[in-house]
Amino acid sequence: MNTSVSPEGSIPRHVAIVMDGNGRWARKRFMPRIFGHKYGMETVVRVIDHCQARGVEYLTVYAFSSENWKRPEDEVSGLMNLVLVGISKYLAKLASRGVRIHVAGDRSKVSERVRQAWNEAEERTRHNTGLHVTVAFNYGGRWDIVQACQRALAEGVAPEALTEEALSRHMALAYAPDPDLFIRTGGEVRVSNFLLWQLAYAELYFTDCLWPDFDEAELDKAFADFARRDRRFGGVKQAQAPEQSA
Ligand code: FPP
Repeated sequence: MNTSVSPEGSIPRHVAIVMDGNGRWARKRFMPRIFGHKYGMETVVRVIDHCQARGVEYLTVYAFSSENWKRPEDEVSGLMNLVLVGISKYLAKLASRGVRIHVAGDRSKVSERVRQAWNEAEERTRHNTGLHVTVAFNYGGRWDIVQACQRALAEGVAPEALTEEALSRHMALAYAPDPDLFIRTGGEVRVSNFLLWQLAYAELYFTDCLWPDFDEAELDKAFADFARRDRRFGGVKQAQAPEQSA
């Protein structure tokens, strides 16, 4: 099992977030959905900063799922454009702060421009040693499991050698420990095909807060909730030593 937390145990090493609620946030302001996604992008940058300040080592955000292609064409193209805008606006700042960017997902389906932008972000931050930020883009948990099996088989791994460890090495986030804390904003209580393999022992945290409103205080609330969890990883709680009587 590939799971661990900070030495104190109160701050998760790896936080994974489903950033839901952009559309509703925009609608409440009588604005198009893409307006919510633009604010959502600013929230991502704030959350990156705050994760760095709190000592999180890995942050993984679900920016575009394999199912998001079903959205209206203008929203899909708006999200693709937001990648290009976001990278030109924030890449230099994030790189200078030591952030290392990774992209997880099926890149074969995205345009050449978007693919190049992601490649540039990864390349430019390749030697950074700070917070690992993974953007799940055209990502699906089932896709990830299937691609891992396919790559393992293509490498000639025999069926009996296809262990959990062997498969983990082929998953899209092979460089990261499994998420300790899963956060979903926006009020829905589901995982939506995000990191299905990796979330096996994650603590789940759901909030009604819409993603563009998810600020430093909201993130600290999630960390405080996480710090109170009793993580047993399928084991049993250690018995407390009986109090010594004088
Ligand atoms: C879900 O909210 C949000 C998304 C599908 C897109 C998330 C994208 C961003 C936050 C922009 C950041 C992008 C990058 C590249 C880091 P929703 O639209 O489903 O909200 P709703 O449930 O209120 O309709």
